[in-house]
Amino acid sequence: MTPRPQSVPLNVNGRNVSVQVDDPALPLLYALRGQLKLHGPRFGCGLGQCGACTVHLEGAAVRSCVLPIAAAAGRRVVTLEGLGTPEKPHPLQQAFIDEQAVQCGYCINGMIMQSAAFMSANKHPTNEQIKQALANNLCRCGTHLRIVRAVKRASSSA
Ligand code: FES
Ligand code: FES
Repeated sequence: MTPRPQSVPLNVNGRNVSVQVDDPALPLLYALRGQLKLHGPRFGCGLGQCGACTVHLEGAAVRSCVLPIAAAAGRRVVTLEGLGTPEKPHPLQQAFIDEQAVQCGYCINGMIMQSAAFMSANKHPTNEQIKQALANNLCRCGTHLRIVRAVKRASSSA
């Protein structure tokens, strides 16, 4: 039997949208990237293990590659695009630029989203707390020291 498309309401970056899906278990990431054309969240491992796909759900950092879209229905989702703009970047985005904390950049959007959620509860973290908060976000390029410096820099401007 052909699955019947369902409409899932979401609030994404402050905008109410509705996404048609055949399967409510579809990962949120696929709808964000494929249907809503938001490419801030990245597809890395697809298994909830690398953090590249991190977005905020009601303010908490979640891995959108393993979150069924049905679990986000009617809830607030924020992607990197909703954090700041090129004209008015979020302090974390500016700090990552200032510290030149990017090599290939693949992990960085997830690092920023994870950091932003963490810093909403801890505005002035120590280096150790930053490392712990980002321990499960992987960076193949090895820019960890600069990433920690960038988060620290953003916290001092908060
Ligand atoms: S792509 Fe989601 S955790 Fe790796
Ligand atoms: S900057 Fe390349 S994976 Fe982190």
